[in-house]
Amino acid sequence: MKRLRLLCALIGFTSLPVVADMASLSKEAFVSNLINQMTLEEKIGQLRLIAIDEKMTPEKIREEIAAGRIGGTYGSVSRYVNRPMQDAAQQSRLKIPMFFGWDVIHGHRTIFPIGLALASSWDIGAIELSGRIAAKEASADGIDMTFAPMIDIARDPRWGRTSEGFGEDTYLVSRIAKAMVQAYQGTSPNAPDSIMASAKHFALYGAVEGGRDYNSVDMGLARMYQDYLPPYRSAIEGGAGAMMVALNSINGVPAASNAWLMQDLLRKAWGFKGLVISDHNGINDLVQHGVAKNHREAARLAIRAGVAMSMNDFSYGPELKGLLESGAISQSNIDNAVREVLGAKYDMGLFEDPYRRIGVASEDPADNNAEYRLHRAQAREVARKTLVLLKNENGLLPLKKEGVIALIGPLAKSTVDIMGSWSASGVPAQSVTIYDGLKNAMNQGSLIYARGANLTEDLEVLKYLGESEIKNDPRPAAEMIDEAVKAAQQADVVIAVVGEPRSMSHEAASRTSLDLPGRQSELITALKATGKPLVLVLMNGRPLSIGKEQKLANAILETWYSGSEGGNAVADVLFGDYNPSGKLPITFPRSVGQIPNYYSHLNTGRPYIAGALRNYTSQYFDQSHGPLYPFGYGLSYTDFSLTDMALSSTTLSKTDNLVASVMVKNVGQRDGETVVQLYIRDVVGSVSRPVKELKNFQKIMLKAGEEKAVHFSINENDLKFFNAQLEHVAEPGEFRVQIGLDSQNVKEQSFELLSEQGSG
Ligand code: NOJ
Repeated sequence: MKRLRLLCALIGFTSLPVVADMASLSKEAFVSNLINQMTLEEKIGQLRLIAIDEKMTPEKIREEIAAGRIGGTYGSVSRYVNRPMQDAAQQSRLKIPMFFGWDVIHGHRTIFPIGLALASSWDIGAIELSGRIAAKEASADGIDMTFAPMIDIARDPRWGRTSEGFGEDTYLVSRIAKAMVQAYQGTSPNAPDSIMASAKHFALYGAVEGGRDYNSVDMGLARMYQDYLPPYRSAIEGGAGAMMVALNSINGVPAASNAWLMQDLLRKAWGFKGLVISDHNGINDLVQHGVAKNHREAARLAIRAGVAMSMNDFSYGPELKGLLESGAISQSNIDNAVREVLGAKYDMGLFEDPYRRIGVASEDPADNNAEYRLHRAQAREVARKTLVLLKNENGLLPLKKEGVIALIGPLAKSTVDIMGSWSASGVPAQSVTIYDGLKNAMNQGSLIYARGANLTEDLEVLKYLGESEIKNDPRPAAEMIDEAVKAAQQADVVIAVVGEPRSMSHEAASRTSLDLPGRQSELITALKATGKPLVLVLMNGRPLSIGKEQKLANAILETWYSGSEGGNAVADVLFGDYNPSGKLPITFPRSVGQIPNYYSHLNTGRPYIAGALRNYTSQYFDQSHGPLYPFGYGLSYTDFSLTDMALSSTTLSKTDNLVASVMVKNVGQRDGETVVQLYIRDVVGSVSRPVKELKNFQKIMLKAGEEKAVHFSINENDLKFFNAQLEHVAEPGEFRVQIGLDSQNVKEQSFELLSEQGSG
């Protein structure tokens, strides 16, 4: 039978349905067999990923699909919209199924906290839960692939997309990258409730110069390998079926035309076997990058460099045939790309059943946004783990659910902003605002509200970010502040919900300032002047420079954009129904001028010395040194103490392990969780090594008064880095181990890594 099918394929006899071959052929043979039957036009069609937008009517799209000229679409999020497109594919000559992609970044119908917030939980289980639910909801809407996780290391918060990723740290982002991929893909990307992960943006998009979106990246190879590339590799180890190519250039060569990146590194060195997709219009952008003189050249560069599928395609469709005929590209350039697309469809189970995630019409939900389809309990559970308590003077928090609370601020009642950017198919009306959350929780006492300020009064900024996103109150600023002050005067405690509208923490939303926008700072000053206890609830997608406001506030809770159940989760923490346990996955600078300001920096030849004046050390003379809040920082309503660290040995051989242990005790009055963090410093290396690097962590729960031993096993692998020859090595010598509940306050011990011969 197998031979008969192959024979049929060879002689071009195609009436055997494609699906029938599945049982008897391996994936490779199946895909080759299919490729052998395809015309050039059909092959090119498979390389086109088309946006569902107003550029083509649904009829036109179906016509194109039926003619074999589209391989997949993105942007449609319902079974009943996707089904007719899949029907059209089933009417095409070879019945090659379509796949349907969408940006399911932090939830689908139920919106979970943004990436940066998820990372703040340091709770891999909770992060996985958010990804799994997103996959279930999205697959139930006929979606096969997500353009996520977004795993670009971000160390410059001016970059608006900092919000989408998981922060500044290589180890933490790499752990989350793998977890998210596995959560989306479940047991296998072919399961009906799985969606294939397309990790992005390959590579280094988070390192755009000056944090300006789409800007260039110039980076030495050692830093690239050491700090920026591991998360992508980790996503691949997690089984990511696809990878999206970044929009930036890398050392002068745009990612989309970068053969070193996509061939040498991704496919050859890392062995990636999945599908490589461009970003939206990323191929035609090569003209603007100045490496192609027209779209034809752009298509040539991209396909030769290894971009298999063109997102929002206006280059492969029109150009590949001409390029092949002129000899500018080879048949194998096209066939290799087609092989990847068909391979991904095979892995998604679409050849077995094109309707795997679309289901039958009779089972379509009457209302896609029906409440029963949401996972509110899980969204609330995850959201409260992502909140970071930054300050809590004299135990002001948690608040009592009584008395008069003045809730002030332009974000307190926003249903849109709390969802964060890239909120997939979330519906603002279904999100619980902070106002609603507090109301839901308070059974006695009263809540008075005043807006207090607008988020920006700059008309140019408003126009840029979109007036539909930011609804300004037309009243004069002074009147709004007055109203807020009056509300505060009547209250026992003031909660000011301040930050950025979500449109400021988004793609194409880079800022030159990290200050609170609009008149929010003025508002906080006025509220402070009332003498009432002041709680700041921050809602933002990047670290903000809140040095001044931090001094004024008695308590600060960082809530990022916490999703559909955000308001309830925030209320859980403010009222103490949940004890906060989040830790910052990114450093909070004192000012924008300190950027970049990440914890794992090099020591320099003249490191800062606290308290010493003008001593020619590395510092800014006009501002206190160091961050406002360090990486890994976050308080709890209880207190934890750490004993000195014990090392199982002061030497480590290359084949052995050593164990670093501390006792952690909950010395406060409440049960609570904390994150015990392990950092390592390589004291002397063949190249300068960072002052510390996160190597492991454990989130532990301790009952009031309880004490637990926390052990970290360390082996040679934890000590490896990329040397000047880009070899991944551990060099013998002294290492310092640090354990703490943030990156700054740590217990330290040293050990020596022995050389093979057994001596340092
Ligand atoms: C452009 C963004 O850079 C990318 O992250 C996203 O997946 C695509 N648009 C599709 O929405």
